[in-house]
Amino acid sequence: MKICCIGAGYVGGPTMAMIAHQCHDITVTVVDVNETRIAAWNSDTLPIHEPGLDDIVKGRRGQNLFFDTNVDKAILEGDIIFICVGTPTKTFGVGAGRAADLRYIETCARRIASIATTDKIIVEKSTIPVRTANSIKRILKAGNAQASFEVLSNPEFLAEGTAIEDLTEPDRVLIGGECDDSVEKLASIYARWIPRERVLTTNLWSSELSKLTANAFLAQRISSINAISALCEATNAEVDEVAHAIGTDSRIGPKFLKASVGFGGSCFQKDILNLVYLCEHYGLQEVADYWEQVVKMNDYQKRRFYERIVGTMFNTVSSKTIAIWGFAFKKDTDDTRESAAIAVCQNLLGEQAQLNIFDPQVSKERIFEDLGSIANDDNVHICQSAEEAASGAHAIAILTEWDTFAEQDFAKIYDYMPKPAFFFDGRNISDLEKLREIGFEAYGVGQGRPPAV
Ligand code: NAD
Ligand code: UGA
Repeated sequence: MKICCIGAGYVGGPTMAMIAHQCHDITVTVVDVNETRIAAWNSDTLPIHEPGLDDIVKGRRGQNLFFDTNVDKAILEGDIIFICVGTPTKTFGVGAGRAADLRYIETCARRIASIATTDKIIVEKSTIPVRTANSIKRILKAGNAQASFEVLSNPEFLAEGTAIEDLTEPDRVLIGGECDDSVEKLASIYARWIPRERVLTTNLWSSELSKLTANAFLAQRISSINAISALCEATNAEVDEVAHAIGTDSRIGPKFLKASVGFGGSCFQKDILNLVYLCEHYGLQEVADYWEQVVKMNDYQKRRFYERIVGTMFNTVSSKTIAIWGFAFKKDTDDTRESAAIAVCQNLLGEQAQLNIFDPQVSKERIFEDLGSIANDDNVHICQSAEEAASGAHAIAILTEWDTFAEQDFAKIYDYMPKPAFFFDGRNISDLEKLREIGFEAYGVGQGRPPAV
């Protein structure tokens, strides 16, 4: 069997590497129009940082796992074609700022329709609005009368930073489709390493909608606890204690209750906005408003964090240096898409602060690109370590929960900083009491104010 995957990104690369790793008899070819990305997949330095990925790719590459720019050839040869291209939020025209931009999906469908000569199973792995399979089917049908196509929905639930774990032992695999044979063919691939009862099958629309719903529920939990974090700060309650107390209720559960500077990542915001747009499209304004609030609360949380820094530092950070620890949207990834760090840093730069930024995985180029024209060599300094970033800084702000940020020599760092030395932990990974003993004026998210000095 031959699999073709269109899109060699954070989903296409790891997912296909896992299939190749688990099924040596299947030839998997991942194609992309981005030549630099494909070259990186074929090099010693993979284009994405993901724990455990290197070993899997290097173990199968050149054997049954291939990365190529020849999209047409892979389509022609593939029995199963996964579509793993991006589905970002539309930035123009009808639905701008909410609807999914489906142009990459449509390009793939048109390409498949125009060149396929044999029957194929087309798998939507990208996250798409419910009923997209209909559009794909219509394009495929219009293109080539000789070949026939079955369209399946098989959304991906992996999280970055834990992609290999998630792919090895997923809670479930979801396959939606109308043709039992095609569903079974795909299910039997996953069943090589995933217990059969975890391979769920549904109709196409339930599968498409379940993906948007899962992300909306996950993001909603974060916004819910972040909303409570604001109340904790006003009342001296501790949000982590509240999260623990409610999370021990088995009906609520402990996961995704970590208060933070706000969720980031390429998907939560875009998928909720897409859900909001869909609801509006179907005339369900109350439902749309309900879900939109999750994104509004996240914007509020990012703004609140930055305003707390400015407010605490005597209402001005102009010409003060702030050490930014972490720029990725979460630990163990180099991905910065929608990272809360971007908004916080831009706002601080707007207040004329000087930023010393350190992230273990994010490149200088990426940081400057994300910050845009407000950043320059005079106000943003990229550092090689957390300690270097803190040296001479008036404040430290933790924006990504990299483990290393909790393991610093804080007494030494304190000595390097002008006093009062401020500490703002946007991830609640530090021992604030210890920091206060050293002398820091330390704050966490949703943690009451320290006693007035
Ligand atoms: P990505 O931007 O990292 O990768 C997409 C790739 O598709 C790019 O490399 C791009 O060059 C390529 N591409 C676009 N059009 C193409 C075409 N016509 N032919 C060949 N290649 C083409 O995106 P991603 O993060 O991998 O996400 C892909 C999809 O998966 C999205 O719909 C996303 O919502 C969903 N998803 C992402 C994650 C995640 O953790 N990133 C998890 C689950 C689902
Ligand atoms: C998320 C989902 O967890 C995946 O299931 C889904 O497949 C994926 O989106 C997607 O569709 O793209 P991801 O964005 O990679 O995965 O990472 P998460 O672990 O979900 O974290 C998202 C953001 O929420 C991060 O900024 C993280 O720091 C934040 N977060 C997470 C919190 O602030 N608190 C939490 O308790 C959990």
